[in-house]
Order: sequence, then C-alpha cells, then structure tokens
Amino acid sequence: MTGVTQLLHDHYRATFLAHGATSQGVDWGPREEAARLRQDVMLAVVDGCRSGGTLLDVGCGYGALADRIVERGLDLDYVGIDVVAEMVAEARRRHPGRRFIHGDFLSLADPGGFDYVVCNGILTQKLAATTLEMNAHARRLIAALFAACRRGVAFNVMTTHVNYQADNLYYRNPAELVAWCMSELTPWVRLDHAYPLWEYTVYLHRDLARQGPGGCGHG
Ligand SMILES: C[S@@+](CC[C@H](N)C(=O)[O-])C[C@H]1O[C@@H](n2cnc3c(N)ncnc32)[C@H](O)[C@@H]1O
Repeated sequence: MTGVTQLLHDHYRATFLAHGATSQGVDWGPREEAARLRQDVMLAVVDGCRSGGTLLDVGCGYGALADRIVERGLDLDYVGIDVVAEMVAEARRRHPGRRFIHGDFLSLADPGGFDYVVCNGILTQKLAATTLEMNAHARRLIAALFAACRRGVAFNVMTTHVNYQADNLYYRNPAELVAWCMSELTPWVRLDHAYPLWEYTVYLHRDLARQGPGGCGHG
C-alpha cells in the first residue's frame, strides 16, 4: 500500500467505525441526497447503453453505489473493491449476490477488464499528503482505472473554481487535468463541472467511434 492509500485507509476506517453505513461513514457529510447525486453522476458513464455490462466500483466503501444500482433497477454486473475490511464486510452483508474484493486497487496484479470503472471519492481528500504526492497518486490511479476499463471510466476531483479551500482536501484544476488525460490516455473525454458539489467528474472513454451510436457496443 502506498503512503497516500495508507492515509486514506486509516481515515475512512475511522469515519466508518464512528458513523457506520451512512454518507458520514464514508465522510461525504450528512446530506444523503448529495451522496445520491454523486452516485448518479458516476452512473452517467453508462449513458447511451440500454443495459448490461460489467462495472467495477473502485473505493466502493460499504456498497452505496450497489444500493443505488438496485434502487434504479439498472442491469449492471457490479463488482466493488475497497481497502477497508470493515466496509467490505458490510457491503457483502448488504449485497450477498455481488462480488466485493478487499484490497488496494493499485496493488492488484491484474484488475481484469470491466466495461465501466468508476471511482467516487479517492481523489477528493489529501489529508496529510502533499499536493505533489497527491498529483503523483492521481496520475497513477487514473492511468490504472483506464487500463482496467473496456468502455469508460468516471472519477471525481475537487474543483479549484472555489473561493475557499480546506487544507485536508485535494483540489485540481479541471482544464489542466482534462488536458493531461487527453495527452496521456485518450482524446475521448467528457467533463461534468455543472453540478453543485464543488467538484467535477471526468469521463474517459475508449474509442467511441468504434463503439457505435451512443458510445456503446453492447445492450
Ligand atoms: C470517500 S470514500 C467513498 C466510498 C464510496 N465510493 C461512496 O461514495 O460511498 C473513498 C473510499 O475509497 C477507499 N479507497 C481509497 N483508496 C483506495 C484504494 N487504493 N483501493 C481501494 N479502495 C480505496 C477508501 O477506503 C474509502 O472507502
């Protein structure tokens, strides 16, 4: 486990032990509706696909995204991974039919090929890490997320377009991050900077031109 992942593990384990399977337990604050909005923004990565497909949820916490997939009746073959053992145990309890992996996504020898890979909240807190350490962590994580996907990735980051910055959060200029993704990973990029949570979501796709109308080769 890298230093940043160890910091995140210790932090989120503590919030989960204090607040349980709630948005506060994964340190998203007390507003469950904000957590739901984030989940729906993540799931927009599958938009244009009528149904089907495999989805890996990196940093799945206690399985809140799996709850939302069930609530919305989406036909997705979901797998979650999280580095906090207690969260994974809770996720398995809530969703006995789904697969949850306990471990560090960045340490997986072969994460396998998933149609979609989402990462909701690993690049939002930097805690005691420096910005340079977080920038290196972000590059490594985003490249690994993209390597694990066959169709698309969604991940979120705190925006620099704010008038106040908290020391514990990781802010990254969206234009600069999108430019890095386009030069290093794929030109098939979308940015959603238009929802009211002081963050944005980046979508990276494999070659949409080869996937047919709607960017979806299945369903
Ligand atoms: C802000 S929480 C969000 C949890 C969940 N995505 C949600 O929205 O309910 C971030 C989660 O990422 C997990 N995490 C951080 N780094 C990880 C890594 N390298 N591999 C797997 N999980 C990780 C943490 O343990 C924590 O549960």
